[in-house]
Amino acid sequence: MALTNLQTYAQEAAQFVRSRSPSGWDVLLVLGSGLGALAEHIESPTVIPYAEIPHFARSTVPGHSGRFVIGSLLGHCVAVMQGRLHFYEGHPLWQVTLPVRVARDMGARCVLLTNAAGGLNPSFRVADLMLITDHINLVGMAGHNPLVGPNWDSHGPRFPEMTRAYDAELADLARQAAREAGVVLREGVYVCVAGPSFETPAELRFLRLIGADAVGMSTVHEVLVARHAGLRVLGISGITNIARLHADEGPPPSHEEVLEASREIAPRMLAVLQGVLRRLKP
Ligand code: HPA
Repeated sequence: MALTNLQTYAQEAAQFVRSRSPSGWDVLLVLGSGLGALAEHIESPTVIPYAEIPHFARSTVPGHSGRFVIGSLLGHCVAVMQGRLHFYEGHPLWQVTLPVRVARDMGARCVLLTNAAGGLNPSFRVADLMLITDHINLVGMAGHNPLVGPNWDSHGPRFPEMTRAYDAELADLARQAAREAGVVLREGVYVCVAGPSFETPAELRFLRLIGADAVGMSTVHEVLVARHAGLRVLGISGITNIARLHADEGPPPSHEEVLEASREIAPRMLAVLQGVLRRLKP
């Protein structure tokens, strides 16, 4: 992707969004598999399907509606991505992360990312929440990084550092919010795989060995573009299934299992996100 094309696409997408919903954004909130219902809490929402936005990809995954719901939530102007775009759907990473570019253009300062993930840490249980403290980007290490290509210098540097990709202050707000809501918030490292196939038991044992606590197929691409552009990032995984490290440990994982667990996760995730927004200075 040539830089001029990327800049034009991001500007045209943002212009379209602004024509439908002129107020600036404070926060981009990305909802993972089965968590879309959180958007119902937005007051006086403007809904924009991705299919109408120039250069946006369409979301093709059950459990992901594929639209922005924009409006006010607890004193912030929030754009909720009800459904995200994934690499495994065949979308190039510039397109997976275009919403983050648009968020920057709309003035957002923070990106709150949620996802569904498989639990690798043996102390995790289905429906736990995990604050992402760091990530391992196996997709990026294999050469698929959304920042590959000419650098967008006015967004950020050629070699952005990722020592503290996940914002310490936002993480603290999430800990406080979880405590207040009586929600157990585990913490750990999220490893990103490409999907769409789930991992083999040998791959899961490998992911445990390299230090991952949860595995999923999203999020880190958005984190990289957000951090490059100077946006602050919070990431929370909902643990929808527990990794079976040996083939005879139980039934194999499925997307239905992920969506089923998300129903239990959604109210807890909502409580934590609401607590974060309540504490976040506008
Ligand atoms: N693996 C990868 N991605 C996932 C999983 C999993 O077990 N569960 C939810 N997303």
